[in-house]
Amino acid sequence: MKFSRRVFHLTLATLAVSALSAAGCRKKTDEIPVGAFLSLSGADSTFGTDTRDGIELATDEVNAAGGIKGKKVRVFYEDDRSTTQEASQKVRQLIDRDGVVAVLGEVASSRTLAGGLVANTSHVPLITPSSTAVDVTQGRDWVFRVCFTDDQQGRVAARYVKNDLKKTKVGIFYVAQDTYSSGLAKSFRDEFKKLGGEIVADKGYQKGDTNFTTYLNELKAQNPEIIFVPNYYNDMVPIARQARQVGIPGSIFMGGDGWDSSNLLEGAGAELEGASFTNHYAPDVPWPNSKKFVAAFHAKYKHDPSSLAAQGYDAAGLLFDAMRRAPQITPEAIRKAIAETTGFSGATGTLSIDPNRNASKSIVVVRIKDKKFTFASEIPAE
Ligand code: PHE
Repeated sequence: MKFSRRVFHLTLATLAVSALSAAGCRKKTDEIPVGAFLSLSGADSTFGTDTRDGIELATDEVNAAGGIKGKKVRVFYEDDRSTTQEASQKVRQLIDRDGVVAVLGEVASSRTLAGGLVANTSHVPLITPSSTAVDVTQGRDWVFRVCFTDDQQGRVAARYVKNDLKKTKVGIFYVAQDTYSSGLAKSFRDEFKKLGGEIVADKGYQKGDTNFTTYLNELKAQNPEIIFVPNYYNDMVPIARQARQVGIPGSIFMGGDGWDSSNLLEGAGAELEGASFTNHYAPDVPWPNSKKFVAAFHAKYKHDPSSLAAQGYDAAGLLFDAMRRAPQITPEAIRKAIAETTGFSGATGTLSIDPNRNASKSIVVVRIKDKKFTFASEIPAE
Protein backbone atom coordinates (compact mmCIF):
# COMPACT_ATOMS: atom_id res chain seq x y z
CA MET A 1 0.00 0.00 0.00
CA LYS A 2 2.75 2.36 1.09
CA PHE A 3 4.82 1.38 -1.87
CA SER A 4 2.08 1.84 -4.40
CA ARG A 5 1.22 5.27 -2.99
CA ARG A 6 4.84 6.26 -3.41
CA VAL A 7 4.79 5.01 -6.99
CA PHE A 8 1.57 6.94 -7.51
CA HIS A 9 3.15 10.17 -6.24
CA LEU A 10 6.26 9.64 -8.30
CA THR A 11 4.13 9.10 -11.37
CA LEU A 12 2.21 12.30 -10.66
CA ALA A 13 5.46 14.20 -10.24
CA THR A 14 6.84 12.81 -13.49
CA LEU A 15 3.62 13.69 -15.27
CA ALA A 16 3.70 17.24 -13.90
CA VAL A 17 7.32 17.70 -14.95
CA SER A 18 6.72 16.36 -18.43
CA ALA A 19 3.58 18.48 -18.83
CA LEU A 20 5.58 21.55 -17.84
CA SER A 21 8.37 20.75 -20.22
CA ALA A 22 5.87 19.97 -22.98
CA ALA A 23 4.40 23.42 -22.53
CA GLY A 24 7.72 25.16 -22.41
CA CYS A 25 10.14 23.04 -24.38
CA ARG A 26 9.54 24.49 -27.82
CA LYS A 27 9.26 28.12 -26.83
CA LYS A 28 12.23 30.41 -26.22
CA THR A 29 12.04 34.03 -25.17
CA ASP A 30 14.60 35.25 -27.70
CA GLU A 31 12.48 33.99 -30.62
CA ILE A 32 9.17 34.97 -32.14
CA PRO A 33 7.07 31.78 -32.34
CA VAL A 34 4.93 31.42 -35.48
CA GLY A 35 2.84 28.33 -36.30
CA ALA A 36 2.22 26.68 -39.66
CA PHE A 37 -0.32 23.87 -40.17
CA LEU A 38 -0.05 22.12 -43.52
CA SER A 39 -0.78 18.87 -45.35
CA LEU A 40 2.80 17.58 -45.16
CA SER A 41 1.55 14.02 -45.71
CA GLY A 42 -1.64 12.36 -46.96
CA ALA A 43 -3.64 12.98 -50.13
CA ASP A 44 -2.49 16.56 -50.81
CA SER A 45 1.07 16.34 -49.53
CA THR A 46 2.63 18.47 -52.28
CA PHE A 47 0.35 21.35 -51.24
CA GLY A 48 1.93 21.27 -47.79
CA THR A 49 5.55 20.61 -48.69
CA ASP A 50 5.61 23.23 -51.48
CA THR A 51 4.09 25.83 -49.15
CA ARG A 52 6.59 24.97 -46.41
CA ASP A 53 9.47 25.54 -48.84
CA GLY A 54 8.18 29.05 -49.58
CA ILE A 55 7.69 29.86 -45.88
CA GLU A 56 11.19 28.57 -45.09
CA LEU A 57 12.76 30.80 -47.72
CA ALA A 58 10.97 33.89 -46.37
CA THR A 59 12.01 32.94 -42.82
CA ASP A 60 15.67 32.45 -43.81
CA GLU A 61 15.64 35.86 -45.46
CA VAL A 62 14.10 37.71 -42.51
CA ASN A 63 16.45 36.04 -40.01
CA ALA A 64 19.52 36.64 -42.18
CA ALA A 65 18.58 40.31 -42.16
CA GLY A 66 18.63 40.38 -38.34
CA GLY A 67 15.10 39.15 -37.53
CA ILE A 68 12.29 41.39 -36.25
CA LYS A 69 12.73 43.83 -33.36
CA GLY A 70 16.00 42.07 -32.51
CA LYS A 71 14.46 38.58 -32.34
CA LYS A 72 14.69 35.65 -34.73
CA VAL A 73 11.49 34.18 -36.13
CA ARG A 74 10.94 30.49 -35.47
CA VAL A 75 8.26 28.64 -37.41
CA PHE A 76 6.75 25.51 -35.83
CA TYR A 77 5.39 23.20 -38.55
CA GLU A 78 2.54 20.80 -37.90
CA ASP A 79 1.33 18.12 -40.31
CA ASP A 80 -2.47 17.75 -40.46
CA ARG A 81 -2.14 14.74 -42.79
CA SER A 82 -4.62 16.30 -45.24
CA THR A 83 -7.59 15.96 -42.85
CA THR A 84 -9.90 18.65 -41.47
CA GLN A 85 -10.02 17.05 -38.03
CA GLU A 86 -6.26 17.19 -37.58
CA ALA A 87 -6.22 20.71 -39.00
CA SER A 88 -8.27 21.94 -36.00
CA GLN A 89 -6.20 19.92 -33.52
CA LYS A 90 -2.90 21.19 -34.87
CA VAL A 91 -3.95 24.85 -34.69
CA ARG A 92 -5.10 24.24 -31.11
CA GLN A 93 -1.70 22.72 -30.23
CA LEU A 94 0.25 25.53 -31.87
CA ILE A 95 -1.67 28.12 -29.89
CA ASP A 96 -1.93 26.35 -26.53
CA ARG A 97 1.33 24.43 -26.41
CA ASP A 98 3.72 26.57 -28.45
CA GLY A 99 2.21 29.97 -27.70
CA VAL A 100 2.46 31.11 -31.33
CA VAL A 101 1.61 34.77 -32.00
CA ALA A 102 0.29 34.06 -35.52
CA VAL A 103 -0.58 31.06 -37.69
CA LEU A 104 0.11 30.34 -41.38
CA GLY A 105 -1.95 27.77 -43.37
CA GLU A 106 -3.70 25.89 -44.84
CA VAL A 107 -3.91 25.34 -48.57
CA ALA A 108 -7.22 23.50 -49.04
CA SER A 109 -10.16 25.70 -48.12
CA SER A 110 -11.91 22.93 -46.16
CA ARG A 111 -8.95 22.69 -43.78
CA THR A 112 -8.47 26.45 -43.41
CA LEU A 113 -12.15 26.67 -42.48
CA ALA A 114 -11.53 24.11 -39.71
CA GLY A 115 -8.25 25.58 -38.40
CA GLY A 116 -9.47 29.15 -38.89
CA LEU A 117 -12.34 28.62 -36.48
CA VAL A 118 -9.86 27.74 -33.72
CA ALA A 119 -7.57 30.71 -34.46
CA ASN A 120 -10.52 33.06 -34.64
CA THR A 121 -12.02 32.02 -31.31
CA SER A 122 -8.56 32.08 -29.69
CA HIS A 123 -7.89 35.59 -31.06
CA VAL A 124 -4.67 34.66 -32.86
CA PRO A 125 -4.26 36.00 -36.41
CA LEU A 126 -4.16 33.43 -39.20
CA ILE A 127 -3.07 34.04 -42.80
CA THR A 128 -3.89 31.45 -45.42
CA PRO A 129 -1.56 31.48 -48.42
CA SER A 130 -3.91 29.93 -50.93
CA SER A 131 -7.40 29.03 -49.66
CA THR A 132 -9.74 30.74 -52.08
CA ALA A 133 -13.28 29.67 -50.96
CA VAL A 134 -15.36 32.73 -50.14
CA ASP A 135 -16.39 31.72 -46.60
CA VAL A 136 -12.82 31.17 -45.31
CA THR A 137 -12.55 34.77 -44.08
CA GLN A 138 -16.25 35.61 -43.77
CA GLY A 139 -17.25 36.81 -40.30
CA ARG A 140 -13.82 35.92 -38.92
CA ASP A 141 -11.93 39.02 -37.84
CA TRP A 142 -8.71 37.10 -37.20
CA VAL A 143 -8.54 35.24 -40.53
CA PHE A 144 -6.81 36.76 -43.58
CA ARG A 145 -5.63 35.55 -46.97
CA VAL A 146 -2.98 36.63 -49.46
CA CYS A 147 -4.88 35.17 -52.43
CA PHE A 148 -7.97 36.14 -54.42
CA THR A 149 -11.35 34.50 -53.70
CA ASP A 150 -13.21 31.94 -55.81
CA ASP A 151 -15.84 34.56 -56.50
CA GLN A 152 -13.23 36.63 -58.34
CA GLN A 153 -11.51 33.59 -59.83
CA GLY A 154 -14.74 32.14 -61.27
CA ARG A 155 -15.75 35.48 -62.75
CA VAL A 156 -12.34 35.96 -64.36
CA ALA A 157 -12.40 32.43 -65.82
CA ALA A 158 -15.91 32.95 -67.25
CA ARG A 159 -14.96 36.27 -68.84
CA TYR A 160 -11.77 34.80 -70.24
CA VAL A 161 -13.68 31.94 -71.89
CA LYS A 162 -16.42 34.19 -73.26
CA ASN A 163 -14.49 37.33 -74.20
CA ASP A 164 -10.94 36.17 -74.97
CA LEU A 165 -11.41 32.60 -76.16
CA LYS A 166 -14.79 33.61 -77.70
CA LYS A 167 -16.52 30.38 -76.70
CA THR A 168 -20.20 30.27 -75.87
CA LYS A 169 -20.98 26.58 -75.15
CA VAL A 170 -19.44 25.27 -71.98
CA GLY A 171 -19.57 22.09 -69.90
CA ILE A 172 -18.82 22.11 -66.15
CA PHE A 173 -17.38 19.12 -64.27
CA TYR A 174 -16.73 19.55 -60.55
CA VAL A 175 -16.45 17.75 -57.19
CA ALA A 176 -19.95 17.83 -55.72
CA GLN A 177 -19.14 17.90 -51.98
CA ASP A 178 -15.94 19.90 -52.00
CA THR A 179 -16.12 23.49 -50.71
CA TYR A 180 -13.51 24.78 -53.14
CA SER A 181 -14.66 22.95 -56.25
CA SER A 182 -18.40 23.54 -55.95
CA GLY A 183 -17.90 27.20 -54.93
CA LEU A 184 -15.68 27.92 -57.92
CA ALA A 185 -18.07 26.06 -60.26
CA LYS A 186 -20.95 28.21 -58.99
CA SER A 187 -19.14 31.49 -59.47
CA PHE A 188 -18.12 30.50 -63.03
CA ARG A 189 -21.62 29.25 -63.89
CA ASP A 190 -23.36 32.42 -62.64
CA GLU A 191 -21.02 34.76 -64.49
CA PHE A 192 -20.98 32.77 -67.73
CA LYS A 193 -24.78 32.79 -67.87
CA LYS A 194 -24.82 36.50 -67.11
CA LEU A 195 -22.54 37.06 -70.09
CA GLY A 196 -25.04 35.26 -72.32
CA GLY A 197 -23.12 31.97 -72.54
CA GLU A 198 -24.76 28.55 -72.50
CA ILE A 199 -23.94 25.76 -70.02
CA VAL A 200 -24.60 22.66 -72.14
CA ALA A 201 -23.67 20.12 -69.44
CA ASP A 202 -23.18 20.48 -65.68
CA LYS A 203 -21.99 17.44 -63.73
CA GLY A 204 -20.78 16.86 -60.19
CA TYR A 205 -18.66 13.80 -59.36
CA GLN A 206 -17.94 12.37 -55.91
CA LYS A 207 -14.72 12.79 -53.98
CA GLY A 208 -12.80 9.51 -54.35
CA ASP A 209 -14.20 8.64 -57.82
CA THR A 210 -11.55 7.20 -60.11
CA ASN A 211 -13.49 6.19 -63.21
CA PHE A 212 -14.79 9.24 -65.04
CA THR A 213 -15.52 7.69 -68.46
CA THR A 214 -19.31 7.73 -68.18
CA TYR A 215 -19.34 11.39 -67.14
CA LEU A 216 -16.86 12.31 -69.85
CA ASN A 217 -18.96 10.60 -72.53
CA GLU A 218 -22.05 12.47 -71.30
CA LEU A 219 -20.15 15.76 -71.43
CA LYS A 220 -18.80 15.02 -74.90
CA ALA A 221 -22.30 14.22 -76.21
CA GLN A 222 -23.33 17.85 -75.62
CA ASN A 223 -20.46 19.22 -77.77
CA PRO A 224 -19.03 21.78 -75.36
CA GLU A 225 -16.37 24.10 -76.76
CA ILE A 226 -14.74 24.34 -73.33
CA ILE A 227 -15.04 22.10 -70.26
CA PHE A 228 -14.47 23.93 -66.98
CA VAL A 229 -13.05 21.57 -64.31
CA PRO A 230 -12.37 23.38 -61.01
CA ASN A 231 -10.74 20.52 -59.07
CA TYR A 232 -7.34 19.60 -57.62
CA TYR A 233 -4.52 18.25 -59.78
CA ASN A 234 -4.67 14.77 -58.25
CA ASP A 235 -8.13 14.18 -59.82
CA MET A 236 -7.27 16.05 -63.00
CA VAL A 237 -4.57 13.53 -64.00
CA PRO A 238 -6.96 10.55 -64.45
CA ILE A 239 -9.65 12.84 -65.92
CA ALA A 240 -7.27 14.12 -68.61
CA ARG A 241 -6.06 10.62 -69.44
CA GLN A 242 -9.58 9.20 -69.66
CA ALA A 243 -10.72 12.22 -71.70
CA ARG A 244 -8.11 11.41 -74.30
CA GLN A 245 -9.38 7.81 -74.44
CA VAL A 246 -12.95 8.96 -75.12
CA GLY A 247 -11.72 11.46 -77.74
CA ILE A 248 -11.99 14.83 -75.93
CA PRO A 249 -9.09 17.10 -76.89
CA GLY A 250 -7.08 18.28 -73.86
CA SER A 251 -6.93 21.85 -75.11
CA ILE A 252 -10.65 22.42 -74.40
CA PHE A 253 -10.15 21.99 -70.64
CA MET A 254 -9.98 25.00 -68.35
CA GLY A 255 -9.30 24.82 -64.61
CA GLY A 256 -8.61 26.88 -61.49
CA ASP A 257 -5.65 27.32 -59.16
CA GLY A 258 -6.09 23.77 -57.80
CA TRP A 259 -4.37 22.49 -60.94
CA ASP A 260 -1.04 23.97 -59.99
CA SER A 261 1.33 21.10 -59.32
CA SER A 262 4.29 19.60 -61.12
CA ASN A 263 2.42 16.30 -60.64
CA LEU A 264 -0.20 17.49 -63.12
CA LEU A 265 2.47 18.04 -65.76
CA GLU A 266 4.21 14.75 -65.00
CA GLY A 267 0.96 12.78 -64.98
CA ALA A 268 -0.98 14.41 -67.81
CA GLY A 269 1.11 17.24 -69.31
CA ALA A 270 0.87 15.76 -72.80
CA GLU A 271 -2.87 15.09 -72.54
CA LEU A 272 -3.50 18.67 -71.42
CA GLU A 273 -1.46 20.46 -74.11
CA GLY A 274 -3.15 23.81 -74.78
CA ALA A 275 -5.39 23.74 -71.67
CA SER A 276 -5.53 26.84 -69.42
CA PHE A 277 -6.26 27.69 -65.81
CA THR A 278 -6.53 30.74 -63.58
CA ASN A 279 -3.75 31.03 -61.03
CA HIS A 280 -1.80 33.18 -58.59
CA TYR A 281 1.41 33.19 -60.57
CA ALA A 282 3.42 31.48 -63.33
CA PRO A 283 7.17 30.79 -63.29
CA ASP A 284 7.66 33.13 -66.27
CA VAL A 285 5.33 35.89 -65.08
CA PRO A 286 6.89 39.26 -66.02
CA TRP A 287 6.89 40.86 -62.54
CA PRO A 288 10.26 41.94 -61.08
CA ASN A 289 9.55 40.58 -57.59
CA SER A 290 8.55 37.19 -58.96
CA LYS A 291 11.83 36.98 -60.87
CA LYS A 292 13.79 37.74 -57.71
CA PHE A 293 11.80 35.10 -55.83
CA VAL A 294 12.27 32.45 -58.54
CA ALA A 295 16.05 33.06 -58.53
CA ALA A 296 16.31 32.83 -54.71
CA PHE A 297 14.09 29.73 -54.64
CA HIS A 298 16.16 28.08 -57.34
CA ALA A 299 19.39 28.78 -55.47
CA LYS A 300 18.02 27.10 -52.32
CA TYR A 301 16.03 24.17 -53.73
CA LYS A 302 17.48 23.61 -57.27
CA HIS A 303 14.09 23.52 -58.96
CA ASP A 304 11.35 25.94 -60.03
CA PRO A 305 8.81 26.96 -57.37
CA SER A 306 5.13 26.07 -57.76
CA SER A 307 2.54 28.76 -57.16
CA LEU A 308 1.97 27.22 -53.72
CA ALA A 309 5.59 27.93 -52.80
CA ALA A 310 5.18 31.50 -54.05
CA GLN A 311 1.98 31.91 -52.00
CA GLY A 312 3.66 30.45 -48.90
CA TYR A 313 6.53 32.90 -49.36
CA ASP A 314 4.09 35.81 -49.63
CA ALA A 315 1.94 34.77 -46.64
CA ALA A 316 5.06 34.59 -44.46
CA GLY A 317 6.55 37.75 -45.99
CA LEU A 318 3.37 39.74 -45.39
CA LEU A 319 3.18 38.48 -41.80
CA PHE A 320 6.81 39.49 -41.11
CA ASP A 321 6.16 42.89 -42.69
CA ALA A 322 3.14 43.36 -40.39
CA MET A 323 5.22 42.31 -37.36
CA ARG A 324 7.80 44.95 -38.25
CA ARG A 325 5.09 47.61 -38.43
CA ALA A 326 3.25 46.46 -35.28
CA PRO A 327 4.18 48.42 -32.13
CA GLN A 328 4.49 45.15 -30.18
CA ILE A 329 4.66 41.47 -31.01
CA THR A 330 1.23 40.53 -29.66
CA PRO A 331 -1.54 38.77 -31.58
CA GLU A 332 -3.77 41.87 -31.41
CA ALA A 333 -1.10 44.32 -32.62
CA ILE A 334 -0.12 41.92 -35.43
CA ARG A 335 -3.76 41.50 -36.46
CA LYS A 336 -4.17 45.23 -36.76
CA ALA A 337 -0.99 45.64 -38.80
CA ILE A 338 -2.02 42.82 -41.21
CA ALA A 339 -5.40 44.51 -41.73
CA GLU A 340 -3.64 47.77 -42.60
CA THR A 341 -1.43 46.26 -45.31
CA THR A 342 -1.41 48.19 -48.58
CA GLY A 343 0.81 47.79 -51.62
CA PHE A 344 2.80 44.81 -50.29
CA SER A 345 4.97 43.61 -53.13
CA GLY A 346 5.31 39.87 -53.11
CA ALA A 347 6.29 37.06 -55.43
CA THR A 348 2.68 36.79 -56.60
CA GLY A 349 2.25 40.46 -57.37
CA THR A 350 1.42 43.57 -55.43
CA LEU A 351 -1.43 43.21 -52.99
CA SER A 352 -3.48 45.09 -50.42
CA ILE A 353 -5.66 43.61 -47.70
CA ASP A 354 -9.27 44.73 -48.22
CA PRO A 355 -11.84 45.40 -45.46
CA ASN A 356 -13.05 41.77 -45.73
CA ARG A 357 -9.51 40.52 -45.02
CA ASN A 358 -9.04 39.25 -48.59
CA ALA A 359 -6.21 40.19 -50.93
CA SER A 360 -6.89 42.52 -53.76
CA LYS A 361 -4.48 41.49 -56.54
CA SER A 362 -4.16 40.39 -60.17
CA ILE A 363 -5.15 36.93 -61.44
CA VAL A 364 -2.95 35.15 -63.94
CA VAL A 365 -4.09 32.83 -66.75
CA VAL A 366 -1.63 29.98 -67.26
CA ARG A 367 -1.45 27.83 -70.40
CA ILE A 368 0.05 24.35 -70.60
CA LYS A 369 2.59 24.30 -73.42
CA ASP A 370 5.19 21.57 -74.07
CA LYS A 371 4.45 20.11 -70.62
CA LYS A 372 5.18 23.45 -68.94
CA PHE A 373 3.10 26.11 -67.21
CA THR A 374 3.45 29.31 -69.21
CA PHE A 375 2.13 32.78 -68.54
CA ALA A 376 -0.79 33.62 -70.89
CA SER A 377 -2.28 36.83 -69.45
CA GLU A 378 -2.77 38.97 -66.36
CA ILE A 379 -6.18 40.17 -65.24
CA PRO A 380 -5.91 43.13 -62.81
CA ALA A 381 -7.87 43.25 -59.52
CA GLU A 382 -11.49 44.32 -60.00
N1 PHE B 1 -7.43 27.36 -53.80
C1 PHE B 1 -7.46 26.00 -53.34
C2 PHE B 1 -8.49 25.89 -52.20
O1 PHE B 1 -8.95 26.88 -51.73
C3 PHE B 1 -6.15 25.53 -52.86
C4 PHE B 1 -5.04 25.48 -53.88
C5 PHE B 1 -4.37 26.63 -54.25
C6 PHE B 1 -4.67 24.29 -54.44
C7 PHE B 1 -3.37 26.58 -55.19
C8 PHE B 1 -3.66 24.23 -55.38
C9 PHE B 1 -3.01 25.38 -55.77
O2 PHE B 1 -8.86 24.85 -51.73
